[in-house]
Amino acid sequence: MTPPDLATELDRAAALVAAAHRIVVLTGAGISHESGVPTFRGPGGLWREHRPEELATPEAFANDPRLVWSWYGWRAGLVAACEPNAAHLALARLAAARAGDVRIVTQNVDGLHDRAADALSAGTATAARAAACPLELHGSLLRRRCTRCGWHATVPDPADARTVEDGGALPACHACGALARPDVVWFGETLDPAVLDAAWSATERADLCLVVGTSALVHPAASLPAAARRAGAAVIEVNPEPTPVTPLATVSLRCTATVGVPELVGV
Ligand code: OAD
Repeated sequence: MTPPDLATELDRAAALVAAAHRIVVLTGAGISHESGVPTFRGPGGLWREHRPEELATPEAFANDPRLVWSWYGWRAGLVAACEPNAAHLALARLAAARAGDVRIVTQNVDGLHDRAADALSAGTATAARAAACPLELHGSLLRRRCTRCGWHATVPDPADARTVEDGGALPACHACGALARPDVVWFGETLDPAVLDAAWSATERADLCLVVGTSALVHPAASLPAAARRAGAAVIEVNPEPTPVTPLATVSLRCTATVGVPELVGV
């Protein structure tokens, strides 16, 4: 049974979603937790003795590309075995049902929002699928790019990097053969300006900002909810724990993504 206070808050949040004209959704690792993907800072967020912040840097890759590729190979294998959950699917349905008025912005590199969009459209390139495609602020585990030339591509089997750990070849550029790297944003690197601009513009236009499963500690993504609030938008947070977004939230739902999101989205 849903506790009554959560039920009341869910009703308030659902009414805000129903009344909103333009919605920006910011998601983080917490939305994929119930799919089986560990968060960065919660229990299970460490890989062996390494913190993600020590591996996700250009310096770590320059010092030990095999170690960093082993971590990405492990992550790609883990994500390949996961499925989008009820929260990813509900957001994809919302974005598709209100195409053009809902923008999903994610910090996740796991591709699960994209796979939820695929599930809507059975893999075909429909307008609904396009509307449900997220802006991936931190890149994607499914893409690689060259460390030397401009090559970048979605790879058919990103989990093939698992062999790196057992001494397999490091992933190489398909154009020039140089070392490839994951097409993700590492600490100390800047975000793709076009993706970031699109996220800001969706935030500035929004009259509702829905924030799901992020500790809201990593900027610039973490700045989006406050910017939406300043522009007059309501803010709904879905997170079992309080975060820096909580004090500015119109409604804080202390529940997991799969409990909160499908209910408040209502599609
Ligand atoms: P974090 O691991 O920092 O935070 C995950 C958040 O999800 C926490 O606030 C949890 O309370 C919440 N959470 C856990 N389980 C949940 C569930 N089932 N439903 C809803 N919320 C849940 O992950 P992010 O905020 O995404 O950046 O981290 C931001 C960035 O820091 C990542 O994109 C990554 C990382 O270092 C880069 O790699 C550049």
